Amino acid sequence: MNERPGQVLVLYGITGDLARKLVLPALYRLTLHKKLDLPIVGVAHGHLDHDQLRRHVHDSVAAACGQVDEAAAESLVSRIELVSGELADHATYENVGRAIGDRGFAVHYLAVPPSLFAQIAEGLDAAGLTADARLVVEKPFGDDLESAERLNEELHRHFPEERLLRVDHFLGKDAVENLLMFRFANSILEPVWNRAHVASVQITMAESFDVADRGRFYDAVGTVRDVVQNHLLQVLAYLAMDPPSDVGAEAERDEKRRLLCAVRAIDPGETVRGQYAGYLDTPGVAAGSTTETYVATRLWIDNWRWADVPFLIRAGKALAVTTTEIAVEFRRPPRVLFLSRDCERPAPNVVRFRLQPGPGVTFSLLAKDPNTPVGTREVNVSVDFASQLGYTESAYERIFIGALSGDPRLFAREDTVEEAWRIVDPILDAKAPPEPYERGSWGPAAADRLAPGGRWLPTEVRP
Ligand code: BG6
Repeated sequence: MNERPGQVLVLYGITGDLARKLVLPALYRLTLHKKLDLPIVGVAHGHLDHDQLRRHVHDSVAAACGQVDEAAAESLVSRIELVSGELADHATYENVGRAIGDRGFAVHYLAVPPSLFAQIAEGLDAAGLTADARLVVEKPFGDDLESAERLNEELHRHFPEERLLRVDHFLGKDAVENLLMFRFANSILEPVWNRAHVASVQITMAESFDVADRGRFYDAVGTVRDVVQNHLLQVLAYLAMDPPSDVGAEAERDEKRRLLCAVRAIDPGETVRGQYAGYLDTPGVAAGSTTETYVATRLWIDNWRWADVPFLIRAGKALAVTTTEIAVEFRRPPRVLFLSRDCERPAPNVVRFRLQPGPGVTFSLLAKDPNTPVGTREVNVSVDFASQLGYTESAYERIFIGALSGDPRLFAREDTVEEAWRIVDPILDAKAPPEPYERGSWGPAAADRLAPGGRWLPTEVRP
């Protein structure tokens, strides 16, 4: 990988939604914490003067962070040089080139719709701006395997893989990266992290909010493309992969790829799609749309570590709570001590990783119930990472640090993106109407049948 540090950041889509909600607040926080002071070229397609830019940055930061440190906001604004122009226009790239000047290695960050990625890469090439540069593109990367392959091919004409970074902001989350660390740093876990001891793995990404003002975007995408193909399959890879054989980023990505290659393509018969009540009234949503706002599915990993262990994923909008959690359920202990008729068979141990909110880990263990001679009671051993480990940067702050330093671990490699499209392919664009579910519920009841014993493990974060 090309790990040359970026010397100038070129931000496309500086006035767009993504920049407003996530990118500018992240750049502000990095500035505030003295982690970013390089020059930025902001590319906007309408005209914007510096006062309008200052207001735009200020409003974005205020909306995302609440308080604004005026000095940090001003330091960010003062480092942004604006280039206004159409992305289809060659002159725009010449102006970008002039703004970069002789500042050195440029990192082009595309916070724009994917339909513009190839056009921008081509425009940069025509203006002679690709040799000394890295390209960073936002998700979604393609909308199926074929389009992802095509997009890869188009971008590779202008940027080699080692200078191309695909954002999956879940890879920027410290709590997601921690899955790998936690598994392999604690040698009590690895010996039991396999089919001999694990009964099932359940990944839940529940969001209590609905699609709000993103109706047009979401209706063309649905839950599988929005969060399963990318975020949740990356999480699954960290949870289930073998340890990398080397310290380098590529060794880690190689193992991730190996794991994803072993994941069977999803069976639509083991999938439940849902749509919350009222979704069809959302502005931008097509009449009679069958787009899913919820999906639950059971995956199988065909390798020696995981064969026959069900991996369940469920994700959706307008659900009971907002939480992203993983529950790894172990096999039950043998009966032995628990044979008497009035004694319940002990519950299985569960290791829970909370990714958000409040990242942490909880081990559900069993202790003797003081009220019975041989009964057990569940006790939780829980760690809240923030209180033990302190401040962590947000996913987007880490994404920018990674994009500028060229750290590939925080980005998705071409082959893992393509494997992920292969896995979800059978459930893309299903035409059958999704099962309706009430807002504030846990999604369609039909999803229960996917879980062992017909019941998903309850999440730690409760309504
Ligand atoms: C985005 C999806 O990629 O991830 C959104 O488009 C989703 O629909 C979001 O809400 C969740 O990210 P986070 O970091 O807020 O959990």
